[in-house]
Amino acid sequence: MTKKVFLNLGKQPVTNSYLKNLDNLDKEYFYNLKVTYNDKNNLVSLKNFVKPTMMFNSKYAHRASSSKTMQSHFKELSKECKKKIKNINCLEIGSNDGVFIKNFSKKNTIAVEPCSNLANLTNDMGYITYPVFWNQKISNKILNKHGKRNLIFSANTMSHIEDLDEVFTSIKKLLDKDGVFIFEDPYILSVLQTNSYDQFYDEHAHLFSYLSITNLIKKFELRVFDVKILNVHGGSIRFYICHNDGKYKKKRSVSRILNIELKNKINKFQTYKNFANKIRRSKKKLLKILKDIKKSKKLIVGYGATYKSSTIYNYCNINSKLIDYIVDTTKNKQNKFTPGSHIKILSPIKGLHKEIKYIFLAAWNFKKEIINKEINFLKEGGCFITHVPYPRTITLKNVRKEIS
Ligand code: TMP
Repeated sequence: MTKKVFLNLGKQPVTNSYLKNLDNLDKEYFYNLKVTYNDKNNLVSLKNFVKPTMMFNSKYAHRASSSKTMQSHFKELSKECKKKIKNINCLEIGSNDGVFIKNFSKKNTIAVEPCSNLANLTNDMGYITYPVFWNQKISNKILNKHGKRNLIFSANTMSHIEDLDEVFTSIKKLLDKDGVFIFEDPYILSVLQTNSYDQFYDEHAHLFSYLSITNLIKKFELRVFDVKILNVHGGSIRFYICHNDGKYKKKRSVSRILNIELKNKINKFQTYKNFANKIRRSKKKLLKILKDIKKSKKLIVGYGATYKSSTIYNYCNINSKLIDYIVDTTKNKQNKFTPGSHIKILSPIKGLHKEIKYIFLAAWNFKKEIINKEINFLKEGGCFITHVPYPRTITLKNVRKEIS
């Protein structure tokens, strides 16, 4: 068998299916979250994929613009693209609320976004947005109507798509002769190094490495000419891809990443088995910290109703007995309940008050941004709990080294 399971994260719900109330819980959908490694192409994928329309629909809650970190991240990248490519005609696949495309001219930009609530947003902003899933059909339509693209971009979307052959077939056809396909997604090596098993959830059908992407794109006569490791989303990787005969010279970053990946043995099944053992220990430690705090009857609040945290709560059997409620700035998550774990979500204004002394950093990927924002919480004796890279507490005493 080429695909082998190395991690079983148990029964999990659809992360985006926040509940309005706790009636009809027997109708809640669960699937078994198992993670596999493919020793033929080095790709890490879920064993069971969830139907795309169950995850990406008109109720999609996540807004990429809700974080300042992500706003400036995409602004920086748009500047880089403008330097690299003349007369950009851009296509973004999975444009969310327009956080990337808003940096480009409306005239030459096209977006594809299957969540109609988000597609409506960017259409209203003046960007042509097709409210469909990315596939050959829409790629052909764009080709016929708008012509080839010299920049195709996608952030945190390629990892959502089960059929990657379909993705690369359509990109190959639509990419201009000297065009660049840039995409970024969470990086499997960061997951392995930081024990962030919560990067595995329904929407992350795959987690990429340089090795796996190189293996996947070979047959489409595409190549990676540059690659960057990014801090966002807890550790991401950005690929710069062109046609085999495209004008871009291979950067030194490419061989550097290959060496790093080989050194870290991401091409060995044993690496993934070791990771799974660490995750089982991480679960035990986190539960111990939370239960010890609960013995003194103190409230514990979750910070950020993130999709990632859905994996933690459901894998570790954490419910409102351990995390009293969650705060999140996203309006359409507020006053709902988390899927599977059924923890209430409140606005930070309502939920963060002087009595709160313990906060679980569910949005750990925004640690720096959140700690800087909530520094007074620490100054007044508050304590953050995190599980990345290992379960521990963060207080005013040790905060410096956490955010440096
Ligand atoms: P993400 O990790 O999937 O991007 O989700 C982050 C979630 O955390 C999102 O729902 C917004 C929320 N959040 C806050 O509530 N406050 C914050 O300061 C930040 C940075 C994020």
